Amino acid sequence: MAKLIVVNRAGEEATIEVEDGLTVMEAIRDNGFDELLALCGGCCSCATCHVHVDPSFSDKLPDMSEDEDDLLDSSDNRDKTSRLSCQLAFTQELDGLKVTIAEED
Ligand code: FES
Repeated sequence: MAKLIVVNRAGEEATIEVEDGLTVMEAIRDNGFDELLALCGGCCSCATCHVHVDPSFSDKLPDMSEDEDDLLDSSDNRDKTSRLSCQLAFTQELDGLKVTIAEED
């Protein structure tokens, strides 16, 4: 299993082990981080799964779809590290990925 490092809004860091086949959103939610609402359940229609991704992993992430891009535009807290975590399949290649749960909009 690959490791995912999650930083919550208080700046506390936790490392979780993620089974294959989950998205970053599912991994965060299933490990009890209730700050990540993920209201639409991963259908790319709510933007409440917004995270900031460690820039050193940016070239390993899947490309952003137009829908994800549009939804992120609705966030006041978007920056160049922003992604919707439900759109990030967590693979072995992303072992050690660090994501920070975005500020609440
Ligand atoms: S969970 Fe709704 S957009 Fe990701």
